[in-house]
Amino acid sequence: MEEKTVYWDHDSGSIIFIEQTALPAEYRTVSCKSVERLAEAIRRLEVRGAPALGVAGAFGVALAAKLHDDSNMDSFLRLVREDADYLNSTRPTAVNLSWGINRTYESIKNAASPEEAAETALRVAEEIAAEDEMMCRKIGETGAKFLPDECTVLTHCNAGALACYTWGTALGVIRSAVEAGKNVSVISCETRPLNQGSRLTAWELSRDNIPVKTITDSSAAFLMKRGEIDAVVVGADRITHDAVFNKIGTYMHAVCAKHHEIPFYVAAPTSTFDATLSEKDVVVEQRDRNELAKCGDRLLMPDSVDAINYAFDSTPVELVTAIFTEKGAVRPPFSVDEILQRKVGI
Ligand code: MRU
Repeated sequence: MEEKTVYWDHDSGSIIFIEQTALPAEYRTVSCKSVERLAEAIRRLEVRGAPALGVAGAFGVALAAKLHDDSNMDSFLRLVREDADYLNSTRPTAVNLSWGINRTYESIKNAASPEEAAETALRVAEEIAAEDEMMCRKIGETGAKFLPDECTVLTHCNAGALACYTWGTALGVIRSAVEAGKNVSVISCETRPLNQGSRLTAWELSRDNIPVKTITDSSAAFLMKRGEIDAVVVGADRITHDAVFNKIGTYMHAVCAKHHEIPFYVAAPTSTFDATLSEKDVVVEQRDRNELAKCGDRLLMPDSVDAINYAFDSTPVELVTAIFTEKGAVRPPFSVDEILQRKVGI
């Protein structure tokens, strides 16, 4: 996929993003000129996927720095920090969002003027975007070597170009394997309730002419038992020393893959690793009941019934065969600190 998921348009001075809620019916982009609109887009999953949230958060800080022009640097920084915190509050689980926001905000703390701060923030946000592409390519090259020359890969949710600046993490592995001449077919779990798998992964891969079929999430174990899956490759929203957080349903695939002796791989940049928290401390986002209760205007459950709608789950690292990062592959058990300090995996 050539397009970038979220980027800065220098002519209009705004953030452009692909509106992912409109896919696959319609491909359209949004020109975003306010922090409020960006926060809404993140909350509504118009922009989603951990690395893309990091890039979006970084551009959000650049936008905030451009919009505030208080000549007093202390109050200017306070206003930008408020916007940064507001953006950060939109989705709690993917660590990349706060990572992108904080890295950009830190870069402007010593700026001499709001103009200088706005320029610096934009430069850093664009660096983060470019690094994301480079990291995805490296993750892809590393992961591709682990896939057999001919294989069927199951993936969950969308860890593709749409979830990053471009290329993708899990789908980056698949793209790199195809580029290297491997014959890879993909089984894309639909990923209830918001269908990132059937709407986004299937859309992306079919545009690239990579064979893809969609299944209901509950079909995965049966296909594994029938020998129709050779490997599972998924992305991640946060990786602690003891668990991988990713879209709800990932844990179920990991358990089933273990039972059927199928390798379970995670593809993620090091910006997804969190050295500060353990599995039990990570906030798992819970989303609106209506995501389950309705399909358009059609009611899918009685009004009187409540729903449990966690957006993510956590997979213990013991169930993970290997994690592909831009620094190489690591196998659990691992130390997040050592990975971040580039001591392992290369
Ligand atoms: O709720 P979403 O669509 O933002 O969830 C996205 C995922 O779970 C992805 O698998 C994850 O962010 C990795 S993206 C490379």
